[in-house]
Amino acid sequence: MSERIAVLGAGGHTGGFVVAELRRRGMTPIPCGRATDLDRAFRDADAVINCAGPFATTAAPTIGAAIRAGIPYLDVTAELEVVADTFAAFPGAGIPIVPAVAFYGGLGDLLATAAVGDRPGADHLTIAYALSSWRPTPGTRATGRVSAQRRDGRRVTYTGRRLRHRTGDAPRTEWTFPAPVGTRPVVGEFTTADSAVIPTHLDVPEISTVMTSNAVDDLLAADPSGPVAIDEHGRSAQTFLVEVVARSGGEERRAVASGRDIYAVTAPLVVAAAARILAGEGNAAGVASAGARFDARDFLSALSPGHLTLG
Ligand SMILES: NC(=O)c1ccc[n+]([C@@H]2O[C@H](COP(=O)([O-])OP(=O)(O)OC[C@H]3O[C@@H](n4cnc5c(N)ncnc54)[C@H](OP(=O)(O)O)[C@@H]3O)[C@@H](O)[C@H]2O)c1
Repeated sequence: MSERIAVLGAGGHTGGFVVAELRRRGMTPIPCGRATDLDRAFRDADAVINCAGPFATTAAPTIGAAIRAGIPYLDVTAELEVVADTFAAFPGAGIPIVPAVAFYGGLGDLLATAAVGDRPGADHLTIAYALSSWRPTPGTRATGRVSAQRRDGRRVTYTGRRLRHRTGDAPRTEWTFPAPVGTRPVVGEFTTADSAVIPTHLDVPEISTVMTSNAVDDLLAADPSGPVAIDEHGRSAQTFLVEVVARSGGEERRAVASGRDIYAVTAPLVVAAAARILAGEGNAAGVASAGARFDARDFLSALSPGHLTLG
């Protein structure tokens, strides 16, 4: 029988991609809106994918309902504080809980895990994001406001094995991405869910993150029209490249992925994770990330070349 997946926030931009990807894979989405009685909806579901953000409001109550229903919970949060809260609040949960299986969070975690390979970790990780543009959705803008409020205007970095707050302007520098992106101006300390997820299973004392300046400027300008679909899958013209560099001693290991549309690519990531868990892979109870649960290289390869280009 086709797996039934409850999708919270199914009417949103990312939720729409997730519903379409579930259907494409022969699974049955159960769309859940704001007024949904989660206990009732989850009674008929085999798993839940939470796409309703800001997750500061939705993650804990949805996880609570998933625990009562006894079904796996996955979400696509980019909020690193929510990831940290989820790990802290539900360590002994009797269901698999997988936070941040998305462009921010899951992809960086899987690339970092692939780059580190058979090592337990790395002395230093750099995660470098290149976006050709970024027209944020209302959900992204609302999430940015909630996170800024929660941080009291400060930024977050991961250093000395801890997430720490910083004040002042983020550093601006340059980063040389693999071709065809090349050397680009970047903003440093662009810390995302990746930096909350990766240290939960890799031994990494320092994580640096950079984002191309044009994307940060787009985010600050926040065009209210949001992403514009240009293909039959509803994807925008936005392209991305994510490079993870793991340094240990004098050695560097890299993993790179590129593709189109950070919202659209979130759907195959989280749906693939749900499908693997329901098939019995990486389905241990408790909170663990995609990189901790799955063979990262195999997971990424299975999304290539349709959703991601690797290397
Ligand atoms: N980690 C990543 O890379 C990544 C990727 C994609 C998305 N995201 C995150 O996913 C979230 C959604 O993004 P989006 O692009 O889909 O935004 P969106 O198009 O604005 O959709 C947001 C959806 O969430 C629902 N929602 C919001 N608050 C809710 C609540 N309290 N209870 C129930 N439903 C609620 C909204 O319902 P209404 O229509 O009723 O308001 C809407 O369906 C954001 O937090 C974004 O940061 C993260």
